[in-house]
Amino acid sequence: MPIRTIIEPFRIKSVEPIRWTTRTQREKLLRDAHGNLFLLPADDVLIDLLTDSGTGAMSTYQWGAIMEGDESYAGSKSYNRFRDSIQDIFGYRHVIPTHQGRAAERILFNVMVKRGQIVPNNTHFDTTRANLEFVGGVAMDLVIAEGKQPSLKHPFKGNMDVAALETVIEREGRDKIPLVMLTVTNNSGGGQPVSMQNAKAVSAVCRKHGIPLYFDACRFAENAYFIKLREPGYENKTPKEIAQEMFRLGDGCTMSAKKDGMANIGGFLCTNDDILAQQEKDLLILTEGYPTYGGLAGRDLEAIAVGVQEAVDVDYLRYRIASTAYLGNHISEQGVPIVQPPGGHAIYLDARAFVPHIPLDQFPGVALANELYLEGGIRSVEIGTLMFGKAAKMDLVRLAIPRRTYTQSHIDYVIEVILEVWRKRNQIKGLTLAYEPPFLRHFTARFEMPG
Ligand code: F0G
Repeated sequence: MPIRTIIEPFRIKSVEPIRWTTRTQREKLLRDAHGNLFLLPADDVLIDLLTDSGTGAMSTYQWGAIMEGDESYAGSKSYNRFRDSIQDIFGYRHVIPTHQGRAAERILFNVMVKRGQIVPNNTHFDTTRANLEFVGGVAMDLVIAEGKQPSLKHPFKGNMDVAALETVIEREGRDKIPLVMLTVTNNSGGGQPVSMQNAKAVSAVCRKHGIPLYFDACRFAENAYFIKLREPGYENKTPKEIAQEMFRLGDGCTMSAKKDGMANIGGFLCTNDDILAQQEKDLLILTEGYPTYGGLAGRDLEAIAVGVQEAVDVDYLRYRIASTAYLGNHISEQGVPIVQPPGGHAIYLDARAFVPHIPLDQFPGVALANELYLEGGIRSVEIGTLMFGKAAKMDLVRLAIPRRTYTQSHIDYVIEVILEVWRKRNQIKGLTLAYEPPFLRHFTARFEMPG
């Protein structure tokens, strides 16, 4: 019999202790945090699945490269290594380092978008939407209909509705649409991939109308691996070749290196347009830094240069996608409603189906996330009515898996906790909002907490 167990493709060299708390302690901690898991001290979390962003473990090669960081203000050789490694995969002419993905978004939209203009995307992530709206742009989500039905299985639920895109361009006119974006994988829609065929179709529509196409590339490697697994014709291609092919369909990208850059901080903005690149670099200098470091240390550039190459390693991706699916499949087999099929970086519980007795204005996703913390010290995040207000099409609770950080026994524990909460789901109560800031309210909102 061939060996079927997929193991973590690494051994552990340095450990970071985690700490248990009791349920009584957690009840007080959650009250002190006003019912918002973002406001908890991280030390009081046992398994932190709040995000896969910047929370991964770096490899020995990355730590080695960090020692070679060149901290020169201008012309650092770490920048050259960073640029060369990124160009090897992404292929774009200009590579502009930023401190993280949202800085790339802010610069891109400042340069490309005027008040009242529309930017279609499969689904805008919260920072993308907020940065766009901040410059007066309109964020439009055009994910396919299948992408909005959590329990429906489809291999590429992140795809954009190409017919809808064409309709929008015809209705609004090309001048109203400065760029189109494709988020790979589609985080807000469940970590679901976009197929190469869809990317090609979107690219063809954009090219026909002379509209630039930009990728939100945060999880490009996971997307490439899903294409390898699910799209005919790609089974024998490497994830890197698939990523290279996808990026050739676009004119640039924004990237958070905290995801498939395998780094704890960093990001970049790429473009093939010389004029835009100049304007972007001017803005970069204003708030991020000189174009050969852009808000990062030389050592961060080194970690990313090595990290993006590790992210497209096929052994790593096989383990990554299998371990996320392991969590999803074990809970869904017991009836727990999740976004199907399991995504690349996270499992999303469908809170509207999990706690149908809680009305939307009492934040079913927040109530469920809080219960997972109370039950087992697990931190997750709501992606729903709190995050997006009335624009929310679903109320999801995301369990994001940091890269190379937790082992299978941690995940077995998470499964047990979720199943326990599932058994007690009828007792979960809704929440009342006590405070909200004017934008990105989920980070600092507070809820009324009894007792
Ligand atoms: N785009 C997508 C699809 C993202 O998931 C994120 C971040 C960003 C852009 C912004 O990147 O954080 O480096 O500024 N997502 C994190 C998450 C925060 O938890 O999903 P950033």
